[in-house]
Amino acid sequence: MTKLNWGMIGGGEGSQIGPAHRLGSGLDGLFSFVAGALDHRPEAGRDYGQRLGLAADRSYGDWREMLAGEKARDDRVDLVTVATPNATHFEITKAYLEAGFHVLCEKPMTMTVDEGEEIVKIAQATGRICAVNYGYSGYSLVRHMRAMVARGDLGQIRLIKAEFSHGHHADAADADNPRVRWRYDPAQAGVSAQFADCGIHALHMAGFVANQTVTKLSADTVSCIPSRVLEDDAMVNFRMSGGTVGRLWTSSVAIGRQHGLTLQVFGEKGGLRWSQEQPNQLFWMPLGQRLQVIERGEAGLSPEADRSSRVTIGHAEGMPLAFANIYTDLSEAILARKQGRDMDPAADLYPRAEDGLWSMAAVQAVAESGKADGKWVDARPPMFR
Ligand code: NAI
Repeated sequence: MTKLNWGMIGGGEGSQIGPAHRLGSGLDGLFSFVAGALDHRPEAGRDYGQRLGLAADRSYGDWREMLAGEKARDDRVDLVTVATPNATHFEITKAYLEAGFHVLCEKPMTMTVDEGEEIVKIAQATGRICAVNYGYSGYSLVRHMRAMVARGDLGQIRLIKAEFSHGHHADAADADNPRVRWRYDPAQAGVSAQFADCGIHALHMAGFVANQTVTKLSADTVSCIPSRVLEDDAMVNFRMSGGTVGRLWTSSVAIGRQHGLTLQVFGEKGGLRWSQEQPNQLFWMPLGQRLQVIERGEAGLSPEADRSSRVTIGHAEGMPLAFANIYTDLSEAILARKQGRDMDPAADLYPRAEDGLWSMAAVQAVAESGKADGKWVDARPPMFR
């Protein structure tokens, strides 16, 4: 099997998400970590990159230097992950796509809908892959939920309830801590805080499992800590392209909740419940029967779930392994292009630039609706109306 070259921008020492990307990309032996511009401080980035094993000439001081350096090489990176703070995603992703690289961008892909549309158009025009890291869609049983919905086990999907609520910003005495404060400041965070940070994961998961898009929504947004300009809690009602009714709650002041990402899907013939803090069990209630527990790794799951599972049943598989499934999909997508063949359809599940754009349209719609006392607003990106 051909091993692909991988590079990362951001994700420096002590960052939250860098380790999960390094673990995820390296897990299946599909990518070699060969280049990086890991930190906003050039020397710290160079030093950390070399301590992680990068060659001195590929442990770059910043992303522009890396772009120039990699473009000039025959063994340039096949995939670049952008894991920097949100406001930089657009500029970096755009530059790498235009230079001919495939990109995996952290969420949110951009800060505005216009930027999102631009990225989608650039990806289309260049033919490069632009993926967005809705990494929780990589969990084996999330993929199994999608497969169950697609093959009709639940019948028509009537309702979806999504949550992503935690309590890590609930301490009013800590609200002025600079590491927390910027997230609620429109100058740095954009039009939304909690929904743009966490709510979009839950909304993406609803769309991924139902294989539908969100068409309109009504949002009740509040700042439970009054000094915050942007919301720390939101309740969003939405409607989907296939007629499904959606309910979403996201919060950062829900004391006692840790990560709090859960999805419930209710169809004509049964209901499903999955929670990221207990990712190896999927609860399935077929109409008129008893509750069943579907275990990750058990026999008879969908090909999508089997492909996304590594260790045997009963052993925990966690978040970096979900990210690894985005990387295995991307490896297959890149190799299929290089080899001029169709990709394995079971791997064709990685979130795209289009998903990043739909999320930004939802963020914009939540901000607009929240300001207008929950008025229903169109949540579709203009280019898809
Ligand atoms: P962080 O603040 O912990 O780390 C950011 C890293 O990027 C630092 O190492 C910093 O030095 C580096 N950096 C900043 N500007 C840079 C630049 N111009 N060039 C190179 N490096 C630069 O941030 P965190 O929490 O790791 O978040 C990064 C991104 O990942 C955010 O967009 C966030 O929304 C996303 N994220 C995604 C998650 C997911 O589940 N998909 C979970 C957590 C974060």
